[in-house]
Amino acid sequence: PEGLQAWAEEVRDLARRRDAVLLAHNYQLPEIQDVADHTGDSLALSRIAAASSASTIVFCGVHFMAETAKILAPDKTVLIPDAAAGCSLADSITVDQLRAWKAEHPGAVVVSYVNTTAAIKAETDICCTSSNAIDVVASIPADREVLFLPDQFLGAHVRRTLKRENMHVWAGECHVHAGINGATLTQQAKEHPDAELFVHPECGCATSALYLAGSGAVPEDRVKILSTGGMVDAARASKAKQVLVATEVGMLHQLRRAAPEIEFRAVNERASCRYMKMITPEKLLRALREGRDEVHVDPELAARGRAAVQRMIEIGQ
Ligand code: 13P
Ligand code: SF4
Repeated sequence: PEGLQAWAEEVRDLARRRDAVLLAHNYQLPEIQDVADHTGDSLALSRIAAASSASTIVFCGVHFMAETAKILAPDKTVLIPDAAAGCSLADSITVDQLRAWKAEHPGAVVVSYVNTTAAIKAETDICCTSSNAIDVVASIPADREVLFLPDQFLGAHVRRTLKRENMHVWAGECHVHAGINGATLTQQAKEHPDAELFVHPECGCATSALYLAGSGAVPEDRVKILSTGGMVDAARASKAKQVLVATEVGMLHQLRRAAPEIEFRAVNERASCRYMKMITPEKLLRALREGRDEVHVDPELAARGRAAVQRMIEIGQ
């Protein structure tokens, strides 16, 4: 449509004038993904933010992602089109709770998922994302205790994969992914017996997916636990006719672009993140016109969290 094209041209033009790079997470609205310079998962976007030569980063995603970019690139201006775009998972642990947990396990290595506030990152040894969580925990000497936070489903997946008994997992969750449950996945897998399953490890159904594979209900090679970036790569390599996708529904846009011949179906069509969807075309335009909302991270907190975030972007694919 004409209006959309004019909007995209104005966005591109303002971005050029501001010397800004536009980053969009895979859960963003399709038009935001299409206008961005780069779309990707949390790890890929953090790496791009760290390496970019642009003086401004416009982060179309949620607040912790923009904060992570600011921690990695403190001299750049980081803008988010709506600073109120939060994350229920990041909200599931407070700094006081983390300090109390650390006091119960002196000497443990703290691994925080990137979905955390800058204040939590400042209390963290290594950050990880869904695409490198296993590699990050595997990099820690086997005799060290690990405190993994805040996502219980991702934590359980890492613990099970590495068979690591001295790893403790915080009981947090993302309301969107927790709502994609095992019963729904099992039902859909039954209704679509030839489909592949792409499952994000934050999902409540991640254990059920492994059970389906382990019990032979779905052939093992058709069940994949993946980050959102991993899903795009897997879509490109897939020979399947149909894929059931267990994650936030914004993901379908990149998957359909990557493999138009495959039919992608959401396991739960209501799995939409209201925070991700707060970044609207109008607010992106406003961000570029008015230079808002600017993301600030307390320099002392940023300095304390930087090493943990840097280790995250160095480890894994
Ligand atoms: P990834 O894109 O890193 O897989 O993360 C998913 C997510 O929920 C981000 O909020
Ligand atoms: Fe946070 Fe969940 Fe939304 Fe991702 S989908 S930003 S984890 S609330």
